[in-house]
Amino acid sequence: EKSLSKSLRRLNNIRNQLEAAVKDNSKEPVRVLITGASGNIGYSLSFMIAQGRMFGPNQPVILHLFDLPNNIGGLKGVSMELTDGAFKLLRGIVYSTDPAVAFKDVDYAIMCGARPRTQGMERKDLLSVNAKIFEEQGKYFDTYAKKTVKVCVVGNPANTNALILAKNAPSINFKNFTALTRLDHNRAVGQLAEKLKIDNDKIKNVTIWGNHSTTQHPDVDYCVVEDDNNTYPVKSMIADDKWIQNEFIKTVQQRGAAIIAARKISSVASTATAICDHMRDWINGTPEGQWVSMGVMSKGEYGAPTDVVFSFPVTCKNGEWKIVDNLKLSEFSKEKLAITGKELLEERTMALNK
Ligand code: LMR
Repeated sequence: EKSLSKSLRRLNNIRNQLEAAVKDNSKEPVRVLITGASGNIGYSLSFMIAQGRMFGPNQPVILHLFDLPNNIGGLKGVSMELTDGAFKLLRGIVYSTDPAVAFKDVDYAIMCGARPRTQGMERKDLLSVNAKIFEEQGKYFDTYAKKTVKVCVVGNPANTNALILAKNAPSINFKNFTALTRLDHNRAVGQLAEKLKIDNDKIKNVTIWGNHSTTQHPDVDYCVVEDDNNTYPVKSMIADDKWIQNEFIKTVQQRGAAIIAARKISSVASTATAICDHMRDWINGTPEGQWVSMGVMSKGEYGAPTDVVFSFPVTCKNGEWKIVDNLKLSEFSKEKLAITGKELLEERTMALNK
């Protein structure tokens, strides 16, 4: 009798697994555009998406790979390698240098195609070259993409490029255009985990405020370590405000430049990882009681300027982001928010009046 019930249990498990597999397989694939897809970030990112790192292990994808006509060989090569990966979730590849093909009906878009900075440059120095690209691509969204498309801008200066994109795609809700500051958020978590010698996933509610630039404000005032259902404020665990206000903040603000100095090219794999985290949390939701940092359209929350893309603490549910409200800011943070907000206004003036 015992062995019979054991077999029955086993059969039941198999039936459940089969049912789940049938359900998963019936999911419609989503179309994901990557611009600059033959570049380093695009190359790394497309494989992560095909492996399920962005949408989870049950969501099939069709990748739309876009680049400039002179990169057609690179695009073809990435597409060939993706085919060679024989990924379970990859249901199709569209590679094209024609925006009418690449932007057509996409559900999600990751905007990596832009000139990267080199040593000695600030990200905003790229505005004069990259603003044109984003102006043009905003129009492609307006004409070819689904009106529900969700967009993450990676090419620098990411916040202002996202603003340009949104302004050139008036038929799509502003809320659908976001800028990547999850990279800075993850960098902050990494620094804190190293300092406290704890696992990364125990650190919750770091905030990156403002611009993805050296004026950004990495803030740990509400950051906690969660361990066995207890929470401990990171600030009191570190117990060294000087380290936080100087070393920690500077390291996070200047990490992009430090990577360029070390590798001679800007960050690739950590950026692709952060893009996956950004999109996954936006689409699937942030865990209960936790927030992440995203560059989103500002309506003046926390005294930030309006009509700029500003990084805020956000929670996500049902595919919508929402800025966390009612946080009390320290005088130190208020000063830093004013500085990064001013820079975003300057970038906006440069971008719109060129
Ligand atoms: C980064 O933060 O690594 C990227 O924005 C690349 C750069 O220019 O710093």
